[in-house]
Amino acid sequence: MVKICCIGAGYVGGPTMAVIALKCPSIEVAVVDISVSRISAWNSDQLPIYEPGLDEVVKECRGKNLFFSTDIEKHVSEAHIIFVSVNTPTKTRGLGAGKAADLTYWESAARMIADVSKSNKIVVEKSTVPVKTAEAIEKILTHNSKGIKYQILSNPEFLAEGTAIQDLFKPDRVLIGGRETPEGQKAIQALKDVYAHWVPEDRIITTNLWSAELSKLAANAFLAQRISSVNAMSALCEATGADVSQVSHAVGKDSRIGPKFLNASVGFGGSCFQKDILNLVYICECNGLPEVANYWKQVIKVNDYQKNRFVNRIVSSMFNTVSGKKIAILGFAFKKDTGDTRETPAIDVCKGLLGDNARLSIYDPQVTEDQIQRDLSMNKFDWDHPIHLQPMSPTAVKQVSVAWDAYEATKDAHCLCILTEWDEFKTLDYQRIFDNMRKPAFVFDGRNVVNVDNLREKGFIVYSIGKPLDPWLKDMPAVA
Ligand code: UDX
Ligand code: ADP
Repeated sequence: MVKICCIGAGYVGGPTMAVIALKCPSIEVAVVDISVSRISAWNSDQLPIYEPGLDEVVKECRGKNLFFSTDIEKHVSEAHIIFVSVNTPTKTRGLGAGKAADLTYWESAARMIADVSKSNKIVVEKSTVPVKTAEAIEKILTHNSKGIKYQILSNPEFLAEGTAIQDLFKPDRVLIGGRETPEGQKAIQALKDVYAHWVPEDRIITTNLWSAELSKLAANAFLAQRISSVNAMSALCEATGADVSQVSHAVGKDSRIGPKFLNASVGFGGSCFQKDILNLVYICECNGLPEVANYWKQVIKVNDYQKNRFVNRIVSSMFNTVSGKKIAILGFAFKKDTGDTRETPAIDVCKGLLGDNARLSIYDPQVTEDQIQRDLSMNKFDWDHPIHLQPMSPTAVKQVSVAWDAYEATKDAHCLCILTEWDEFKTLDYQRIFDNMRKPAFVFDGRNVVNVDNLREKGFIVYSIGKPLDPWLKDMPAVA
């Protein structure tokens, strides 16, 4: 029986391995992690991540051919194929700080593989890592090999959170990069055979190692660039009276451009986009390509500009002060249908408002109070370190409270801000909300969720990203 082990039971490792187990009953899959609490959660009824459809897949396979364990060494030594899906944070100190990937966790996983292996292994990169990481890992393994042969493959994951299970069931493509030697090709074929259980052959692309690594960074950079492009347009729309949804629709009808990923928003978040672009920028700089580096840096700058602009809109509309005012924040996750808050724009928006002394009442259907407090007191980039290395009990931010629902959050608030596009925010009883808010009552919609005209009829002053401005906001400066 083929045995697979995945090191790292996170957002990528957990769902990906669960789907491999479901689709390949003849393969035994073990997911291992150093975090005891994470593994216990994977073995319980309350999985550590919220992902539609995941519970069913895990229930179907757990205990049959899918196992979650902290016995890392046992499972690694028994496996034929080892996926590595550990954290790759952005470095916060030393060479490349603020840009380069910190490969500490990757390196320690590689050294552990070398220590415990007694048979030949295929080692597969699953976390996003900079180009040429595979080569570095190969060196660690071969210099410590004790006669064991390793083949390194890069198999980047393209799933998006919230739709992870669907993305894994029906991927646009599976990308496998490996060495162009006969052994490398054999390893590629072995991994192809796994995916071939459910992915059509023509969707499995094979490349050399470096192309696979770079393709992942490039794909995320292109996607993020589309959002920054439409967000840049949203600022121009507000300044000129155009409607960004109409512009996106018209632009997206061009079949060369396509309609997806053109929703203006308060900014993109998530664990990948910013980190991968920073990585790309660093690689360009290291290779003497400052013009290319600056080009991609701009995607992040526009994203930061968009978040700042949103905060400035709020403060300037409310007579230039939010000090002591209750502000309701609806949605904290970085997108709907996930409880994930990594790099969520809500963190920067909330910190911006707290910087102006606002009182925040936050509601998100999936994010816990502990997570919100942790996020608002953590330093930039600290989120991507394994849970056990994060500060255990962050000092709670006093001006922040967490509400059970949108009605409680908005009661007596001066304004409400929509920061995640949860479906339930479309169908709230906005009349009831209006009646219970301070007046003038403001809505700042960072996701184009609400019907602006309906809300204006009810008496709200409404700002919605990229839409023609409410007369109230017209002469207020949006950029500090
Ligand atoms: C992304 C990639 O899509 C995925 O292929 C890769 O494997 C990991 O990174 P993810 O971060 O899970 O996935 O979510 P995604 O749907 O890409 O959204 C990222 C951010 O962009 C979210 O904050 C989302 O709200 C925002 N977004 C997305 C927009 O603001 N506008 C859009 O039109 C689309
Ligand atoms: P991703 O979104 O890429 O899946 P996560 O942060 O969700 O990232 O998951 C990474 C997981 O890897 C964490 O659960 C962390 O505890 C685990 N991890 C980090 N280093 C190691 C290691 N050396 N051995 C085993 N697990 C590790």
